[in-house]
Amino acid sequence: MGSLIQYSKFVFIIIFIFVLIILLYTRVRSSGEVVDPISVHSDLTTSQHNLYFSTYLDEIKNTRLMCGELCDTTRKGTPGKFFDKITAIINCEALFKNKYVDSSHGLVHAPRKIPSILLNDYTMNGKMKVHTAYFNQQYLGSTARTPIWTKSLLNEYVALAKEGKLFGTYGIPETNALRDGLQHAPGVKGGRVLVIGSEKPWVEACLIEIGAKSIVTLEYGKIKSEHEQITTMVPSEYRRQFLDNKLGLFDAVVSFSSIEHSGLGRYGDALNPWGDLIVVARAWCVTKTNGSLVLGVLYDINNDYITFNAHRCYGRKRYPYLTTNWNQHYLGKGHQRVHVFTK
Ligand SMILES: *[C@@H]1O[C@H](CO)[C@@H](O)[C@H](O)[C@H]1NC(C)=O
Repeated sequence: MGSLIQYSKFVFIIIFIFVLIILLYTRVRSSGEVVDPISVHSDLTTSQHNLYFSTYLDEIKNTRLMCGELCDTTRKGTPGKFFDKITAIINCEALFKNKYVDSSHGLVHAPRKIPSILLNDYTMNGKMKVHTAYFNQQYLGSTARTPIWTKSLLNEYVALAKEGKLFGTYGIPETNALRDGLQHAPGVKGGRVLVIGSEKPWVEACLIEIGAKSIVTLEYGKIKSEHEQITTMVPSEYRRQFLDNKLGLFDAVVSFSSIEHSGLGRYGDALNPWGDLIVVARAWCVTKTNGSLVLGVLYDINNDYITFNAHRCYGRKRYPYLTTNWNQHYLGKGHQRVHVFTK
């Protein structure tokens, strides 16, 4: 009798331990699936990470508030030449005052997944599909990949562009698609042009070739330009100069394969679901009336998606919000289909 009680006690303890292990295992599994806040970044302790996460959630909340209509991607547009046209009241002062837009995520590794709490903001409430491809390239706050732009490098690029043989960053057909777009962009010839995002000066070379008078390049990493027509700045300088009324207006803005990365953390920038919309809206703020925007981004009219943290691809769902208030002017060529807009 005694040994039977001993035996059933033993079985009970075994079952108890087994159930405990199963319970613990499923707890760990499910908390692993919830991306934020802990598993986004494993090099910080949990409390450091929670602190970081709660501060940037506040920043994101503030960013949404100051952004107003611009960041409300549920607003309806009107039919346009290429896709719907969205108009919004844009508070330029507030957009430039917001430091978070230009800040770095400050982590050793960029976040690997979209924090679940931001998923609806990133995907326009599920309208954009999400894929995965991970990069960790800390450009913000460091130097660019080609940090010195010599005159001879520029002259060489300009000569190649003239012959239609400049490889640039994305290959000869893409360079020529940009050159074609620039031909259709009011303000470029003889104008003062802002370039957003440029690892090496191929866009600048195309602008010099076509006759732009002066060029200001905005890039995450520091660049030293030795060419007299080109000056460069980093986001904090862009911000400061606008707020101090020293930036002036541009006749045109050009950006190729840059804006689709804004706010994804890939280049060291802080997570921002509307980072792309804000960059283009700021460009709108600093462009003269009748000036233009020449934009090359990943494009598929029928398929808007985010490949986190690599890039976004724009179609009829997000492109209208990306180009809020811009007039649709010319549909060009290229894999990263060049679009020209006017103000
Ligand atoms: C913009 O272009 C229109 C049409 O060509 C012209 O009537 C208008 O004066 C221009 N505005 C400015 C500020 O240049």
